[in-house]
Amino acid sequence: MQRVTGVNDLTAAIDAARERGLEIAFVPTMGALHDGHLSLIREARRLTSFVVVSIFVNPLQFGVGEDLDKYPRQIEEDSVKLEELGVDVLFTPTVNDVYKGNMEVTKHAGHIGEILEGAARRGHFDGVLTVVSKLFDAVKPNYAIFGAKDAQQVFLIQQMAKADYPNIQIVVAPIVREESGLALSSRNVYLSTEEHSAATLISQALLAGKAAAVSVDQAIQAAETRLLAIPKAKLGYISLVNKNTFEPVLDGFKGQALMLTAVVVGTTRLIDNIDITF
Ligand code: PAF
Repeated sequence: MQRVTGVNDLTAAIDAARERGLEIAFVPTMGALHDGHLSLIREARRLTSFVVVSIFVNPLQFGVGEDLDKYPRQIEEDSVKLEELGVDVLFTPTVNDVYKGNMEVTKHAGHIGEILEGAARRGHFDGVLTVVSKLFDAVKPNYAIFGAKDAQQVFLIQQMAKADYPNIQIVVAPIVREESGLALSSRNVYLSTEEHSAATLISQALLAGKAAAVSVDQAIQAAETRLLAIPKAKLGYISLVNKNTFEPVLDGFKGQALMLTAVVVGTTRLIDNIDITF
């Protein structure tokens, strides 16, 4: 595996792969890699034989008072995992490599970027889209792989790709869960043992919502009752959106929906979602 920091070195590695006739699959990450990330890399490997992974903790997508400073950084441990998976290039740019002294929003997420996660984390999705577009410009991949846990992020990246990067195929890999049902997240390391067992109730609440999905209201109510009963937790939101538009759905909706939740367990904000067809 080649580890590169500067964009010029990245371009040289990618040009060499293209000259060999290879397609590029790209997995952007913020590091602290867990099995969820590794599943994205395996998916990348299934798609093509040249895999690029980036590790970059993007300051622009963290709000004031969020966990930018304490976000887990473990580049050496991550490198070993990536090497084992046969990743070809690990791109670890500095803030200056990415933003070139100008850390400004250049992509706007619009209305869908302001609801749910975006309402709680103002500007978050503008920061995500901005960095993803800069990474896409640098890597110019054929495929980019993202995890379904960050459903709103995935939706917005798909919209951006449709408009601005029609040659990049966005591939969505399923949520990876612990046996307990808890969706894997780099932030799970913040949970104490007690908080961890409380957090396992989140996916159970979503499953209860799905089981009660005779109507939108019943599904929400079943999930919400359980989420509100989780000890040491504060419910951020529970919502059902149309999977194709990400607009919240009302009772009577028929079609494919996503039930999404954010729950703060202790001080750790966790998100999860589940597909529901009405
Ligand atoms: O999902 C993430 O880890 C980040 O939001 C991403 C897509 C790497 C952009 O910083």
